[in-house]
Amino acid sequence: MAKAKSKALGYLEWWVVFLLPLAPLGWLTYNAWIFNLGADPAQEIVLETGVWAINLLWITLAITPLRRVFKLNWPLRYRRMMGLYSLFYAAVHLLAFATFILGWRWDLLLKELSERPYIIVGALGLLLLIPLGVTSTRGMQRRLGRNWLKLHKLVYPISLLVMVHIIWQIRSDFGEQLVYGLILGFLLGSRMYFYLQRKTRVMRAARAA
Ligand code: HEM
Repeated sequence: MAKAKSKALGYLEWWVVFLLPLAPLGWLTYNAWIFNLGADPAQEIVLETGVWAINLLWITLAITPLRRVFKLNWPLRYRRMMGLYSLFYAAVHLLAFATFILGWRWDLLLKELSERPYIIVGALGLLLLIPLGVTSTRGMQRRLGRNWLKLHKLVYPISLLVMVHIIWQIRSDFGEQLVYGLILGFLLGSRMYFYLQRKTRVMRAARAA
């Protein structure tokens, strides 16, 4: 009985975590439907999908430090899902840009790229996210073995590329970029701290032996 109850709660938790990241897309679609996206709906859609791509990437990066610092293990089950959602929002972000800003006019692409070079950095980030998404399954993880871990370390340069992508867009107010930068600094800094701690422990053990 208790086992069945905990299984049902597990399912419920999975569905809640699965549906939550879809809420911003639902909200955006609803507001587009009722013409409530402000003066420049195209820009709003590109911005919002970009913001959720970065939010979900930062959430993915936060899961390991959460486990190490707060001994919180359950979010680990959802790391792959959050990473895939980040890729999903980044793909919708690109699609929105190509549809609403570019209008699928490839002749405008060069002009856009010279006016907004930060797009190239964002595109590189998205390009690198794709192999991580494709190899995120357990089967791929098994097949690639140690190389899987090496490949998935790409998430660090990707996060830096995304940071460059948004910093390059600063015109006057940089509050948002500062917050994302501080969070990323903390997430990468804590990983570096744990890495150095582990390395020191191994070196001490080797010296003692
Ligand atoms: C081919 C890939 C990409 C293209 C073409 C692209 C394009 C753009 C454009 C045109 C904007 C500015 C919208 C405007 O102000 O009019 C923007 C903003 C943004 N992008 Fe991207 N992007 C790409 C990849 C990414 C990726 C991979 C992420 C995150 C994972 C991302 C996150 C963001 C964020 C957060 C903003 C808003 C920045 C702010 O609030 O000032 N983008 N992107």
